[in-house]
Amino acid sequence: MRKNKNHNVVLVGAQWGDEGKGKIIDLLAQKSDYIVRYQGGNNAGHTVCFDNEKIVLHLIPSGILHPKKICVIGNGVVIDLEAFFEEIKMLAQNGVSVKGRLFVSDRAHVIFPYHKLIDQLREDEKGSKKIGTTKKGIGPCYADKANRLGIRVVDLMNPHVFRERLKIVLAEKNLMLKKIFNHAPFSFDEIHRTYSRLRKRIAPYVRNTSLLLDQAARSGKKILFEGAQGTLLDVDYGTYPYVTSSNASAGGAIIGTGMSAARIDEVIGVVKAYTTRVGEGPFPTEFPPQLMAHIRERGEEYGATTGRPRRCGWFDALVTRHSVLVNGLSEIVVMKLDVLDDLPKIKICVAYKFRGRRYRDFPSDIEVLEGARPIYEEHPGWQSSTKFAKKWSELPPNARKYLKRLEQLLQVPISIVSVGSERSQTIFINGRYQ
Ligand code: GDP
Ligand code: IMO
Ligand code: MG
Repeated sequence: MRKNKNHNVVLVGAQWGDEGKGKIIDLLAQKSDYIVRYQGGNNAGHTVCFDNEKIVLHLIPSGILHPKKICVIGNGVVIDLEAFFEEIKMLAQNGVSVKGRLFVSDRAHVIFPYHKLIDQLREDEKGSKKIGTTKKGIGPCYADKANRLGIRVVDLMNPHVFRERLKIVLAEKNLMLKKIFNHAPFSFDEIHRTYSRLRKRIAPYVRNTSLLLDQAARSGKKILFEGAQGTLLDVDYGTYPYVTSSNASAGGAIIGTGMSAARIDEVIGVVKAYTTRVGEGPFPTEFPPQLMAHIRERGEEYGATTGRPRRCGWFDALVTRHSVLVNGLSEIVVMKLDVLDDLPKIKICVAYKFRGRRYRDFPSDIEVLEGARPIYEEHPGWQSSTKFAKKWSELPPNARKYLKRLEQLLQVPISIVSVGSERSQTIFINGRYQ
């Protein structure tokens, strides 16, 4: 982070997720002490590439690949314990030890098998109206949390509390499974046995992480908050109901960790040089089929968690300006510029038109979003490779013009431009973060 400053930074996705947060977290982690996930769960898929190796993290912060960094899973995250241990195993196989430097909030909620099943049953039942969730049980787990039917890590840690909570919760779930979905019930004994075993395994990781982070901040440690999903998938600010069930925007970092808002110094937004979304829901600048196939191929746009093809479209300034506003972004990181390298023309959406009305700000009405016709400005492409550019001056003039136009539209400076998935394929503007 900036020299000589106790810098606590929140990094958020400023579109519909998969902007490339994993790569940037990995880079910024070098200058941080703590890396903290604050919302979502293993619906996330954060990719880090180095030395021709690729690691995808779903639940554990992407800073874990740096041996001395401390990683925290905050209270706002929902945890699938089996996925958690699988990820630890995957890291061990890649020579990464988490011993003594990975902590889980005792207040985080646990994802149970019934959450995953209900996620799937609900999606199947909705048919063409489905959300297109990752089916990881995220929505049902957050719903239980709000409904006061959740089970937290701390509840699991207390055998007596766990038994009592599970009895109440499972009775309700089994009734719902039978009455609504005509589905067989879960066995109390089986879940109880499995999770009592997991209790022993999770115990060494469990902490009051708000206390841990407060102590870290007081002693001048630098904390990096790793957002998952993106602002347009935020349950409050996204394209509701086609969203995830948590606050993926910067505000989530406060609630999801217990860190004081006064201690956050900066909020960085990550965007792609174009736009993608995976799952259902409105996407005004979505490409026509031919261009979609081309960019999907060049950008390898397939979900890091589900493998689903991502939908691709032009950069949407309304989407990103909305993100600037609700997150208070102080700077923008632009990813995957190289994917646009061979296009003769590049468009940016600057307004929507719907039923004769022009929209300059991102609307919240789902009907407007679904019917919005994007108004574009067109820019000449650069039709040369950016993959090997190491500094701003090495980018083709038209690429620089395109980025400058984005800056102008968003009214926020671009601090980093990424031109490939490797750590080395990164341009730091004006020496930021070096
Ligand atoms: P996240 O969820 O925001 O961390 O992003 P994902 O990991 O789901 O998706 C981003 C994908 O783009 C990953 O496969 C990255 O390796 C890749 N990537 C990141 N930056 C660049 C870039 O600048 N150029 C290209 N071509 N690929 C990139
Ligand atoms: P990262 O952190 C992109 C999408 C799903 C679906 C919606 C709800 O890698 O950017 P959920 O399973 O969360 O209830 O699904 O949210 N979604 C993501 N899309 N990147 C993600 O994470 C996502 N996590 C969830 O596709 O549309
Ligand atoms: Mg992803």
